Amino acid sequence: MATRIGGRSTGTFLCVIALSTPLWIPNAFAQPRAELLHWWTSPGEAAAAEILSKHVRRSGVQYVDSPVLGGGGSSAMKTLRARVKARNAPTAVQITGLEVAEWGERDALNDIDALARAERWSEVVPKPFQRYMKFQGRWVGVAPNVHSTNWVWANTDVLAKVGITQPPRTWREFVGAARKAQSAGFVGLAYGGQTWQSTLIFDSALLGAGGPDFYRKLFIEGRRPGNAHAVLEQAYARMSELRDVIDDQSANRPWNLATAMVINGRAAFQIMGDWARPEFTVSGKQVGRDFWCFRVPGTEDSVTFNLDTFAMFKVEGAEKVQGQQIFAKTVMSPAFQTEFNVAKGSVPTRSDIAGSAFEECGRRAVQDIAKASKRQTLLGSMALGHALGTEQKDALSDVIHRHFSGFLSDKDAATESLRAIAR
Ligand code: GAL
Repeated sequence: MATRIGGRSTGTFLCVIALSTPLWIPNAFAQPRAELLHWWTSPGEAAAAEILSKHVRRSGVQYVDSPVLGGGGSSAMKTLRARVKARNAPTAVQITGLEVAEWGERDALNDIDALARAERWSEVVPKPFQRYMKFQGRWVGVAPNVHSTNWVWANTDVLAKVGITQPPRTWREFVGAARKAQSAGFVGLAYGGQTWQSTLIFDSALLGAGGPDFYRKLFIEGRRPGNAHAVLEQAYARMSELRDVIDDQSANRPWNLATAMVINGRAAFQIMGDWARPEFTVSGKQVGRDFWCFRVPGTEDSVTFNLDTFAMFKVEGAEKVQGQQIFAKTVMSPAFQTEFNVAKGSVPTRSDIAGSAFEECGRRAVQDIAKASKRQTLLGSMALGHALGTEQKDALSDVIHRHFSGFLSDKDAATESLRAIAR
C-alpha cells in the first residue's frame, strides 16, 4: 500500500489557512488528522484524489492519503479488514453500496448524525442516495459522487475506419459494429478479465434483456419473477456475444488499461462506468472528436448508479475525531463537490449543484439521472454492491465471471445464478 502523508511545515500551513478560511483555527491542541483509504490509483482517478487532498488540507486537516491498487476495491477491502482487526482503522474508507451498512452491523462506524443535521444534508441529498451513507437511519458516511455504469466508450477513429459514423442505437447494431472492428484487426470490446468487470457488463446485459422492472424485482426487491430463468439466459446470451469480440490477453487486465486500448485506437469499445471519462481527458482526448460516450444500447431509459461512500470508522483521539468531522463537512461542501466531480467523471450527490461546469458526458449524466429518477428507473448497480447483499452479489459475480470466462453455458449460468441469489 502506498501512503502519502499530507502534512506541511508549520510556515506553509499557517500561510495556507490564512488564505483559505479554515474550519480549524490553530491553538494549543494538536492539529486535526484524517486518513482516507481508497482505490483511486489510475491516472484519472489519482488526479481527482489530488483535488480531495487539496480541499481537505486547506480546511486545516493533516491528511493522509492511502490508496490501495486495484479498481473496484477488492484489495482495498482486504486492507480494511486487516486494519480493523489490528485496531488501526482509517478515519474514512471508500466503500461502495450496501457494504457500508454491513460495517455498521459490525459496530465499526462512527455516527455523524449531529453534523448531518447541522449541515442539512437530508434536504440536499436525494433520498435514494442517502441509503448508502446511513446505518439504521443515522448518517455514518458521506459520498462526494454518483457514478453510473451503463456507459459505452468508443474510439471514433477506429469506428470511422470500418464505416461507422454514429453511435450504435440497438444491441444488434452494437454487437455488429464490434464484430466489424474485430474483422478489421481491432479489438471489438476492450475488457479486463476481473470478476467485478464482467459483473459490471452483466448489469447492462440483464437490464437490456429484462428491462428496468425486471432488474428492480430481481436485484433490488429480492423477488423472483416467473420469467427469471428465461431472461437470465437471454442476458447470458448477450454476454456470450460480447465474449466473442474481446481479445485473448484480457486476463486480469486492470480496467484503465482496457480504457487505454480504446484511447490508443487498439479497440473500438469498452463498457465501463463513467470513471473512464477522465482517462480520456488526461490523455488529451475530446468527446465527439476522439471518443463517444453513449448508454449501453437497450438501457437508455435507465441509469445503473453507484456512489463512492466514505464511511466514517470509529477512531480514537480528539484530533482524529475532529479531523473526521472536518473531512466529512469538506466532502459534502458544494465547492469541493463541483471541482471534484468534473475531474472524476461523476455527478455530485448534492442536488443543488448546477451541471453547467461539466463536459458533455457529465452533463448527459446529470440529465439522465434526473430523468431516471422521475421515471423510477434509477437503479443501484448490482456489480458495485448497490443491490443484493454482499454474499449474494459475490456468489452471483462468481457465476457471471465463470460464464464470461467460457466455463458455463448460458443455460447453466442462468440456473446457477438463481441458486446464488436465493441464498
Ligand atoms: C468503483 C468506484 C469508482 C472507480 C472504479 C474503478 O468501484 O466507484 O469511483 O474508482 O471503482 O476503480
